[in-house]
Amino acid sequence: MNNDKQYFFVDIAHLGDTQLFPFHIHIYNPANGKYNPYLFANSPLTSAKKELLAEIVSRGGKIAIPMKQKRTFLVEQEVKEEDIPDLAPQKIHSLDQRRQELIESKKKTENSPTIISEELKKEEKFHFKEQLANAAASNDFSSLINFVREEVVTFSPRISMMTTMSSLIAEAVLFEDNFTNRTVALSFLLAKGCGITDPESLGDLVCAAYFFHLGYTQLPHSCMNRPQIEYSDSTKKEWKKHPGLSLHLLRKAQIELSQRTKNIIEQHHERYDGQGFPQMKKGSHIEPLALVLGAASHILEYTSGKVSGTATTLPAFILNLKNKTYLPGMEVEFGELIEESLAHLVDTMSSSDQNKKIA
Ligand SMILES: [Fe+2]
Repeated sequence: MNNDKQYFFVDIAHLGDTQLFPFHIHIYNPANGKYNPYLFANSPLTSAKKELLAEIVSRGGKIAIPMKQKRTFLVEQEVKEEDIPDLAPQKIHSLDQRRQELIESKKKTENSPTIISEELKKEEKFHFKEQLANAAASNDFSSLINFVREEVVTFSPRISMMTTMSSLIAEAVLFEDNFTNRTVALSFLLAKGCGITDPESLGDLVCAAYFFHLGYTQLPHSCMNRPQIEYSDSTKKEWKKHPGLSLHLLRKAQIELSQRTKNIIEQHHERYDGQGFPQMKKGSHIEPLALVLGAASHILEYTSGKVSGTATTLPAFILNLKNKTYLPGMEVEFGELIEESLAHLVDTMSSSDQNKKIA
């Protein structure tokens, strides 16, 4: 039984032939999800009112008794709690059950001294800077991706549709060190670095990070076979359609997403100075998580060579950003919060690491 419930439902038969009740009777209207008083305590349930009540029930309305009057109802109507289906303990949903198992298994692994040393346990604690710096220095995002996966799979399905979807997607695919999973992991940690830590926001972000480049599948070949800075005007025009195409495909596939997830997808190329697209939104008019995803995807695209044609390393990119050495195609307008998060990363890397990795 849900402990937050304020009412419980009873059948009309549970009212028996009684005419006066020491509890209130309400009606639940499934059409609008509201509870309305029908008969206050100690007011007679006349035959006309009882007939109307039966009519309401036959049309889908439900008789509801306030939870705080449960004891009075059970005693007065001589009904046992187990005879009221709505008072029976709720079955655990399979998603809740799975989540519980994952949390337990994570706890067991963390507490097993034979599997993980104390030192390793310490390393596994969340440290945005260290996690990202290690991934950047080694060009291996596996542990970062697994770290994010462990958190996302335990998002409660009770929070939102997107926390459910993100945890299911994470369980199925968030483990290989591939481009999409790097985008998911980097944007997740960037969001955390910006102080966006609630599962509802992170669930929206993770889902958006899996779907935001679905539109790439509809782009002409000219967008795929050369670096972005070499695009002709017409190719650039086609390429700029990809956020809208992603949303179009999701709509066609009838994949239901939260409004914020759709906003993140649509706005991931908007930039803080208003020079982005498709709507040239500026500053606080842009969904903050769209800036997060935009920064993460740009950094990964740039460092892989998709933007300028020359691959570089994450430390080199960050250092150039810090030194304001802007290379062709490099985007920097993601807002102060994200810049600060990235600046923390620079502080974490040793200068020898940075010098070693600069292309
Ligand atoms: Fe994009």
